[in-house]
Amino acid sequence: MELNNTEAGQWQVAEKIYEGKAKQIYTTNDPDLVIIRYKDDATAYNGIKRAQIENKGILNNKISSIVYQKLEQAGVKTHFVQQLNDREQLCRRKNVIPLEFIARNIAAGSMARRLGLDEGHVLSVPIYEICYKNDRLGDPVINESHAVALGLSTFLELTEAMEMLRLINEILINLFANLGITLVDFKVEFGRLDDGSLILADELSPDTCRLWDSETLERLDKDRFRRDLGRVGEAYEEILKRLS
Ligand code: TMP
Repeated sequence: MELNNTEAGQWQVAEKIYEGKAKQIYTTNDPDLVIIRYKDDATAYNGIKRAQIENKGILNNKISSIVYQKLEQAGVKTHFVQQLNDREQLCRRKNVIPLEFIARNIAAGSMARRLGLDEGHVLSVPIYEICYKNDRLGDPVINESHAVALGLSTFLELTEAMEMLRLINEILINLFANLGITLVDFKVEFGRLDDGSLILADELSPDTCRLWDSETLERLDKDRFRRDLGRVGEAYEEILKRLS
């Protein structure tokens, strides 16, 4: 889909450099900035399950923009510059480290399955995991030595990323708790700027976080799509409503 330059304001769109499952990335006339466009496509189980969820891109763009602004206010360095319109945000261009960093406060999803834990089991300490971003291999869980041996990062960089992940987890637990939402787990990615500094990248939305209503334990995230629970869009709208 072509971007509407007038919507994007003073930043002229140059070319599409990436199209993923849920987002497209465009270069701009400023070499340090890109425009990220959020799509309505939803996928699960490594692309096996696919659907369109009406307005998901709009909701995720708005939710992620709010969350990123809160993180910036709390001192976390991120790629976020500003929300441009319903579907697009302006972000800093970076080299994304091909690792997924997952924080878990409550057992759920793949970790609950892998370790035989009941979903909902409150972990005595948060668990931080690294996955190798590789669709062909199904994004396997790895540790720091794997990441360094595979040439994906350095021990120094991973230490910094893990510190940022811990801080982000603390900030987000509090942010959502104040809205009556339990942050079960989430995934983030980090990017490297040309000077080597690390910034938080990708999105933070119900696509990438497990968010449960604190009282009813109702799932307000992508598990509604993954598990055919229905009312997917309504759950994302509820998250936006509480954040707004
Ligand atoms: P998991 O339980 O399936 O490993 O997911 C853990 C968290 O990471 C959950 O909040 C969803 C998020 N996640 C993504 O954002 N993208 C992914 O590709 C995967 C596998 C998980």
